[in-house]
Amino acid sequence: MTALFTPFTLKDVTLRNRIGVPPMCQYSARDGYVTEWHQPHYVGLARGGAGLVIVEATGVSPDGRITPGCTGLWEDGQIEGMAAIAHGIKAAGAVPGIQLGHAGRKASANKPWEGDDHIPTGEPGGWDTISPSAIAFGGGLPKVPREMTIADIERVKADFVSAAVRARQAGFEWLELHFAHGYLAQSFFSVHANQRTDQYGGSAENRGRFLIETLRAVRKVWPENLPLTARFGVLEFDGRDEETMVEAIELVRKFKAEGLDFLNVSMGFSTIDAKVPWSNGFMAPIAARVRTETGLPVATAWGMDKPEHATVAIDQGSMDVVMVARGHLADPHYPFRLARNLGIPKSSSVLPDQYAYWLARYPGPQNGEVVD
Ligand SMILES: Cc1cc2nc3c(=O)[nH]c(=O)nc-3n(C[C@H](O)[C@H](O)[C@H](O)COP(=O)(O)O)c2cc1C
Repeated sequence: MTALFTPFTLKDVTLRNRIGVPPMCQYSARDGYVTEWHQPHYVGLARGGAGLVIVEATGVSPDGRITPGCTGLWEDGQIEGMAAIAHGIKAAGAVPGIQLGHAGRKASANKPWEGDDHIPTGEPGGWDTISPSAIAFGGGLPKVPREMTIADIERVKADFVSAAVRARQAGFEWLELHFAHGYLAQSFFSVHANQRTDQYGGSAENRGRFLIETLRAVRKVWPENLPLTARFGVLEFDGRDEETMVEAIELVRKFKAEGLDFLNVSMGFSTIDAKVPWSNGFMAPIAARVRTETGLPVATAWGMDKPEHATVAIDQGSMDVVMVARGHLADPHYPFRLARNLGIPKSSSVLPDQYAYWLARYPGPQNGEVVD
């Protein structure tokens, strides 16, 4: 029997199974406040049986949002709506998590279905962007960011800390720092975005400094007994992957020494020239390497939802939690359906009783058979 449907304990938090919903922006907030869209969406995902539901990339400051429709936790008024989400996820049996981030030079963009491109400063919803260096991402995101001063760096770190405090006040039990996907923190680490000549640029140690300092500052305010995690791009698929991975793994070891509990392994998305070898489960061996070389528990997403990928990744020890994003959009009851298809009994699947009862009463077909 697969261990996918066995609990996973980290610090004082136990996931009822090893399926997580990674953060997915809903682009449905107003002025950083959640709307009528969010609570049913996230609670619905939790009811479907996932062990962990991580709320979307939430801006630590207004200029840190990816789009004007992104959520924020930069002021206390934003806590109440987030608390309803966190409590709803928990009441449905999943662990409530949230991703906090700053979008850096990729901020100030239109919603994906409204172009996904930069909104120029001065146009409704557009704002000035910041980044380690004044280098544009390119393509549909051509805006040249302002190079951050040391005061900017201190301000963003303080914003991460304040947002983390608010996330805890809202009831989240799992915090994921967004150090991935070409946003601000990843931009500090990436040679594609960072050409600084001060202590935040140049060597791998210097390019990792912003991430380490942010983590260190957040660790001081995030409860010691709750998981502090990050999502980090450990390679760019830019032709220098081995070099990047060696640097990234060294940095992850430092994250661990600073008190990071878990890594959601991802890629950098720092250059439009990346050649990503898309296929189901292609990030699993990369996550496994990070796990082996750092000793940190890890997860990854990217096409992990097929039963043979999800179960094998856990059973062969590539990762500790499997993240399934679009599979949950297609079917919020993805874990329930997978458990039923695999013939998992209630006792080990630990789904909500409202659903799990039926697993026991009407067992699913034999392993591998698909139910539609
Ligand atoms: C609608 C949507 C929004 C996303 N928003 C975020 C986000 O807020 N933060 C993040 O780290 N990744 C985000 N992602 C990436 C997903 O977390 C995930 O890595 C990706 O969809 C690949 O996993 P999958 O193949 O299971 O869908 C988003 C993906 C989608 C489809």
